[in-house]
Amino acid sequence: MPDTSKRIYIFDTTLRDGEQSPGVSLNVEEKLKIAHQLARLGVDVIEAGFPIASPGDFEAVRAIAREVEGPVIAGLARINDRDIDRAWEALQEARRPRIHVFIATSDIHLKYKLRMTREEVLAAVRKGVARAKSYCQDVEFSPEDASRSDIDFLCQVLAAAIESGATVLNIPDTVGYATPAEFGHLIAEIRRRVPGIEKVQISVHCHNDLGLAVANSLAAIENGALQVEGAINGIGERAGNTALEELVMALYTRRDYYGCHTAIVTEEIYRTSKLVSSLTGMPVQYNKAIVGKNAFAHEAGIHQDGVLKERTTYEIMNPTMIGVVQSNIVLGKHSGRHALRSRLEELGFKLNEAELDKAFARFKELADRKKEISDRDLEAIVEHEVKQIPEKFALEHIHISTGNRVVPTATIGLRVGEELKEEAACGEGPVDAAFKAIDKITRIPVCLKSYTLNAVTGGKDAVGEVTVKVEYAGRVFIGRGISTDVLEASARAYVNAINKVVYEIGEENLQVLEA
Ligand code: KIV
Ligand code: ZN
Repeated sequence: MPDTSKRIYIFDTTLRDGEQSPGVSLNVEEKLKIAHQLARLGVDVIEAGFPIASPGDFEAVRAIAREVEGPVIAGLARINDRDIDRAWEALQEARRPRIHVFIATSDIHLKYKLRMTREEVLAAVRKGVARAKSYCQDVEFSPEDASRSDIDFLCQVLAAAIESGATVLNIPDTVGYATPAEFGHLIAEIRRRVPGIEKVQISVHCHNDLGLAVANSLAAIENGALQVEGAINGIGERAGNTALEELVMALYTRRDYYGCHTAIVTEEIYRTSKLVSSLTGMPVQYNKAIVGKNAFAHEAGIHQDGVLKERTTYEIMNPTMIGVVQSNIVLGKHSGRHALRSRLEELGFKLNEAELDKAFARFKELADRKKEISDRDLEAIVEHEVKQIPEKFALEHIHISTGNRVVPTATIGLRVGEELKEEAACGEGPVDAAFKAIDKITRIPVCLKSYTLNAVTGGKDAVGEVTVKVEYAGRVFIGRGISTDVLEASARAYVNAINKVVYEIGEENLQVLEA
C-alpha cells in the first residue's frame, strides 16, 4: 500500500473564477445549488464570489455563507478598504469564513495596470492583509501574475503578507504562462526563501492558456503546495482554470507516485460536472478527461475486446468511482412511477411528490416517442425540466411548417395562467419562426445571444438538448429544453429562458412591448 498520508486541500473557485467565463452568469439560486453540491463533493474551500463586483455577487456570497455548511467559504477582494469591508459584510455569517485578498506583483501589471511602484504595492499588502485580519482569522493572499513577477520582489511581498497575518499564500499563474518544471521550481524557491513560510499553507491557482494548468498544479504539489485552486470542468477566465476533477483523479489514480490524498467524495464528481455544465450552459467537450462523454468509451475493436476480457487492459479508472452509474434495468413506456422513482434515486436525485409527478409526465411523453429511456435522458429530464423555477409561460403545443421551398412558419400555444394563447409567425428558419411566435405571446423584448443543440444519447431517436442564452436589461439568462423533436426542444428552451427573466426581474419591473 503506498503512503498517501499527505493531505491536499481543494479550493473550488467555480463560482468566482469559473463564473468569469465568457457568457456565464449564474443567479443566486443557481450558485446556491452548485455550492451545496460542492459541499457534498467534499471540497475544502468554496470561493463563493467577488462581493464588491455586483449586488448579485454580494447576495450570492452572503446566501452561501449563511446556508452552506462544511467547507470554508471564501470571498475575493482587491487589496483596498472598500473591497475588504464588502467581502467581510458578505462573509461574516459563515461558520468558517475566509477573506481572499489579491494585488498584482509583476512589473508589467504594476506599470500598465496598477500604475504603482513596488514600494506602494508592499505598503498596500501590509495594510490590506492587516485589515482583512482584523475581521477574520483566516486570510488568503494572492500576488496576481506571480509566475511573471521578479522573484526577489515576490518573496518580499509574500514575507510582508505573512508578517501581516496571512494564513494561506496562493501563487497564481494568472495568464497560464508557466511550464510544469518552472512552476514547481518557483514553489520550491518560495519555500526556501520566504521567512515564516512554514507557518502558512502554500496554495496554487493555475490558468490553462497553454493547456498546462493541471500539470502545473501537480508540479506545485510535488514541491510542497498543499492547497490547489481550480474549477469544475476547468471553467474560468479565457481557457479556464485547473480542472479539479482531473487533478483529484490524477492524485488518486497515481497515489503510488504522488503519495497524497484529498477529502473529495469522488462518486460525486460526475453529478457535479453535469450540474455545473447545465447551469452555466457550458458544454463539456466529448473527449474531456474524467467527465467527457467519451472518457470511458471504447471504440476500437481491439480495445473493446480487451475491456470485455479484463477492464483494466484499457481502463485506468473505474467509471463508478466518479459516480457514473451503470444499470441493467431499461425504462420504457410500460415502466411505472415506482420504477422511475427508484431509478432516479439510484442516480442520486431525490424528488418531492410534485417534482416526481412532473418528471413522470415528461418521462411518459418521451417514452411514447422513444423505445428505451437511458440514464442520460432521465438526468436531462430532471436537470432541465423538473427542478425549475415557476412557469409564467408553459408550452402547450407547437406546429411548424418548413422546407427548402417554403417560408418557415410556426404556430405556438402557450399556457399563461388559466389562459391558452396562440400566435403564428414566419422566420428565417423554423427555430426563428418559433421564437418569433413565442415573442408575440410573451411580449418581453429579449435578445437571443446563443443557441446550442446537442444529442443527449446516440441513435435516430436521440433526445435533443437545446441551450439558449438570451439578454434582457444587460443580463444574460440561460434556458434549456429537451425533446426527441429538436424544434420542440428549442421552443422549450426559449420559453424556459423567458420564464427566468420573469422570475428574476420580477413581473412588476418588466418592460413589456405593446400588443
Ligand atoms: O488568476 C488569478 O490571478 C486570480 C487571482 C484573483 C487569484 O484569479
Ligand atoms: Zn484566476
